[in-house]
Amino acid sequence: MTIARGGRLPNGLDAAMERLNTSVDVDGELWREDIRGSIAHARGLARAGIITDAEAEAIVGGLGRVAGEIERGELRFRRDREDVHMNVEARLVELIGAVGGKLHTGRSRNDQVATDLRLYCRRLGEETLASMERLAGVLLARAEVEIDTLMPAYTHLQRAQPSRLSHHLMAWQELVWRDHARLTDGLDRANECPLGSGAVAGSGFPLDRAGVARELGFASPTRNSIDATGSRDFLIEIASALALAAVHLSRIGEELVLWSTSEFGFVVLSDGFSTSSSMMPQKKNPDVAELVRGRAARAMGTLTSLLALEKSLAFGYGRDLQEDKRPMLDAFDCVLPCLDALAGALATCHFDAGRMRQALERGHLCATDLADFLALKGVPFREAHHVVGALVREAEAQGIELSALPQATFAAAHPALATDERRAALDVALAVERRTVLGGPAKSTVLAAIADARARWLAVSAARG
Ligand code: ARG
Repeated sequence: MTIARGGRLPNGLDAAMERLNTSVDVDGELWREDIRGSIAHARGLARAGIITDAEAEAIVGGLGRVAGEIERGELRFRRDREDVHMNVEARLVELIGAVGGKLHTGRSRNDQVATDLRLYCRRLGEETLASMERLAGVLLARAEVEIDTLMPAYTHLQRAQPSRLSHHLMAWQELVWRDHARLTDGLDRANECPLGSGAVAGSGFPLDRAGVARELGFASPTRNSIDATGSRDFLIEIASALALAAVHLSRIGEELVLWSTSEFGFVVLSDGFSTSSSMMPQKKNPDVAELVRGRAARAMGTLTSLLALEKSLAFGYGRDLQEDKRPMLDAFDCVLPCLDALAGALATCHFDAGRMRQALERGHLCATDLADFLALKGVPFREAHHVVGALVREAEAQGIELSALPQATFAAAHPALATDERRAALDVALAVERRTVLGGPAKSTVLAAIADARARWLAVSAARG
């Protein structure tokens, strides 16, 4: 039986068309949402007096049985039944008989699939938000534990100024914070129920749209049937938030790859998140970070696919929209495993405070502090910058650090540098603690930032319930 063809097309599909037409291998993933939506629709039909309570009960009971069969792996979806919707409905009719055919009253697969998608995004979206919260929790915990670990801050990937590891970890955390907010925002906008929109122009049945929306946990029903069935901007928005989150995770991945090289040596990943080589016995590779980095490429592809799918699409459902499933499923698959793996890797890695400290000792990292010292003495900053720049050049020529230049060289460069007072400016630890400005790396400032972030994360996760 191919319900989708009904009485209009009694002849079967061409095999080539069937191959193109079928989507159940992909949208079968939506079976939980499809059944949940159908149960709410059946109950709504009964409330509106369109079917009897007994009929609704039979349908709801039958749908429960179908769900059980799928759960236990007993029901194999049939490609000739096109999609998940037809597979579920056909099985329902097989199980409970003709009354099952009443389920599709006042409904089209167009409002059905739009509902399934939104429910799916909500479920996976909640999982993703929870994983983001876990990753943020790991970052905050490590930032707290590593509060006394100093390291360089980089620009152009060159050592720039003295900073602390916690400050760097908190920079990562800021990205996760914004990704969480963007995804939440996208999920909020998707939180409307299309059921009752029919194929495109609603329904003549007195459907209880508000009740169905409420039962499915949506904030409200959608407002326009043409829009609700034929627009997927909610998916684009969510995929966009996910693609950006993946890009952010790729940046963290990139730094873990760099930091775990023997050249940097800032981090040692735990065995549970490292792999070896099939050929080189000595190898310990940071695959977790590389896989996260690589998966961002796929995430970007999902966003591009969805944007292209929507481009120039005339209003009212078009079958093109069937192609939205794979990128949508993939968008979540590009982020969720990465969040969890990174959280695990970061919770179990060893940060090498000694190597980070060593990195602070080379590269004249306190040059800005020395210029600032002169500026505090009333020297115009531009002039101070010039004086210190020349001193760095001199140190480079001698193959030593700025701080190791002889007293006489400092005195000759500027009278304000003649005294021992300059030593404090050239001390990396003091240089970090001097940066108490809001958003800076001083210990007290970072501790306050961690406390503030902890409170904000607690509030958002509590708000999700
Ligand atoms: N599998 C279809 C999709 O994902 C369901 C809707 C089909 N609607 C239709 N008019 N053929 O878009």
